[in-house]
Amino acid sequence: MKASSIANANIALVKYWGKRNKEFMLPQTGSISMTTEGLQSHTTVEFDPKYKEDVLIVNGKEYKKGDEEYDDYVGLFLGVVREMTGKDIKAKIVSNNNFPTAAGLASSAAGFAALAAAVNETLSLGLDDKKLSMLARRGSGSATRSVHAGFVEWKRGEEEDGSDCYAEQLFPPEYWPEFRMVIAVTSKKDKKVKSRSGMKQSVATSPFYKSWAENVVPNHIEAVKKALTEKNFKALGETAELNALAMHAVAIATKPPVVYWNAGTMDIIHAVMDWRDEGLECYFTIDGGPQVKVMCLEKDAEEIAKRIKEFDNIEDVIITKPGSGIKITDNHLF
Ligand code: PMV
Repeated sequence: MKASSIANANIALVKYWGKRNKEFMLPQTGSISMTTEGLQSHTTVEFDPKYKEDVLIVNGKEYKKGDEEYDDYVGLFLGVVREMTGKDIKAKIVSNNNFPTAAGLASSAAGFAALAAAVNETLSLGLDDKKLSMLARRGSGSATRSVHAGFVEWKRGEEEDGSDCYAEQLFPPEYWPEFRMVIAVTSKKDKKVKSRSGMKQSVATSPFYKSWAENVVPNHIEAVKKALTEKNFKALGETAELNALAMHAVAIATKPPVVYWNAGTMDIIHAVMDWRDEGLECYFTIDGGPQVKVMCLEKDAEEIAKRIKEFDNIEDVIITKPGSGIKITDNHLF
């Protein structure tokens, strides 16, 4: 009973930041993202009575009971799977990412989307993509979007049991193949505040939270959907950039403060604004970490990557485009 799957990280154009229900991982707002190509999580899972405890190995590191990753992430997720199936067999999970983990590159999104798909396969649950996105959501909110390829909307839903809270594809990758994100990796270190605890504090204490959730996000969702429908790059970039800044304003005003930016982050923010003034069309977005993702079109991607590399505090530059959803593979990690 072993299965493996590959999923790509997604980058939010309209951010998710805060839950209304922790148990079911129901968000306060809807969100929209682009699933990337090549920022992969490859995960193998096996359920077998030979395991006395669940085993979790991520990027070669084994996590044990008491570790946040083990209890809060996989422990909870496997609990949901066991409740669904009524079976209490222990599992071994091995997951490798080919990009920095826990540093604002949505590693948990790719990881849980891949895990949900592998669990579905190995336990023959027969979940379709909508149901899979709901299962992935129970591991990490943003994972609900990584199930699908291309541009994706995660619907907030209204129901308290989460039955109308899932992700749907808006447009496939082929719809806008020239769209690019140039990722400036400004630090590969693990972030100090995980999204999960940062957003929880923001809901509880940020003075801007309510107006962000009620006024800002619904408008941005509509604006981004319209911009995608019209393939209006300027409108999309402007809205996504404002949306990222609004989310970080909420986070920064949280008690205790959630400040993900470092000096490299600030350098690229200012550079993007300057380049735009010079006529190089690009916009930035930033998730729960210090990396800056610069949105542009294919024709400008190499030039932007070259300019980013000229900064001192940049550790890596990755160019990505709209990519694929979950895939089952025979390539097992153990
Ligand atoms: O799903 P989480 O707990 O990794 O939270 C993701 C939060 C952001 O990346 C900041 C925004 C988003 O929508 O992906």
